[in-house]
Amino acid sequence: MPRDGHLHAPCMLAETLKILDPQPGDVLVDMTLGLAGHATAILEKTARDGPGVLIDWDPSMLALAEKRLAPYHDRIKLFNRNFTELPHIMEEADVEYIDLAILDAGVALPQLLDTQRGFGFQGTSLAMSMADPNDARAAEIINTAPEAQLRSILRRTQSEHRSKLIARAICRARQRKLMESSSELAEVIAAALPRGRRKSSRHPATAAMLAFRIFANQELDNLRAGVEAMAAALRPGAGRMVVLTYHSLEFRTTRDAIQCLATGHAIPPWLPAPADARPLIRSLTKKPLKPSDAEATTCRSCRLFAAQAV
Ligand SMILES: C[S@@+](CC[C@H](N)C(=O)[O-])C[C@H]1O[C@@H](n2cnc3c(N)ncnc32)[C@H](O)[C@@H]1O
Repeated sequence: MPRDGHLHAPCMLAETLKILDPQPGDVLVDMTLGLAGHATAILEKTARDGPGVLIDWDPSMLALAEKRLAPYHDRIKLFNRNFTELPHIMEEADVEYIDLAILDAGVALPQLLDTQRGFGFQGTSLAMSMADPNDARAAEIINTAPEAQLRSILRRTQSEHRSKLIARAICRARQRKLMESSSELAEVIAAALPRGRRKSSRHPATAAMLAFRIFANQELDNLRAGVEAMAAALRPGAGRMVVLTYHSLEFRTTRDAIQCLATGHAIPPWLPAPADARPLIRSLTKKPLKPSDAEATTCRSCRLFAAQAV
């Protein structure tokens, strides 16, 4: 873990602040505190009396953020929980409605760089867990799941053909020796794939590792439930929320969740809407926003969705 956690600026902060437009006294809920980059910028604007409910599943991220949050200690409450537990967290924090909510999906840079967490290509473990660095579930799946299950996990982020090649290679490799680290896994995956003709700066195992990470943390189910919980807790008529996504699966999950919440039903647009449809939000971003040129390298894949309670 790098000693100074403040490694890079939060993505699309200017756009987030513009849309949320924090005012003194507003109640903030940050579903994914990370290094508190977004949270501190918002708390700065909600002034002395704007409470903050700050959540992160990873205790080590909360520990890193805590120092940065010292100036706001009298009006924030930290929760080391899954953000899907939002309704209980709000009850515990004694908060009825949210004025400003943010969910910045995925992992934070310190988690990726901490080799013991097993998120990166140089990892020394296979934990891949946001909540618990000693979690053995991902290692168990990778070392014991039937080939067909590995293939279906991998299929989420890549073609049938690549999934098949990788799943087969993992099964062969683990017959020789069980895998213990994400660096071993990345090597096996890279060796299983045909070399592309185009030179890419991406590690060949990027998509496959993402598939295992998503599976290990149930990231897409959590994201959908998190977006729904935020929308349901916004102050009626006024509360606003921002969701930042970083890859196409997060993008689609968020887009679909916001569409359902904004129409009040899950019926496709070409069929008549049910009479009892009850929209919770309206979208504030006709198309999700992209980062400006200034952030083109650091936050290239980020897309911002925003909505307001009706
Ligand atoms: C991209 S980082 C957030 C960065 C943050 N906005 C900042 O300004 O530093 C995502 C954070 O969300 C946390 N996280 C991911 N899934 C979570 C979940 N289901 N519940 C709570 N926290 C989660 C991760 O541990 C990570 O710290």
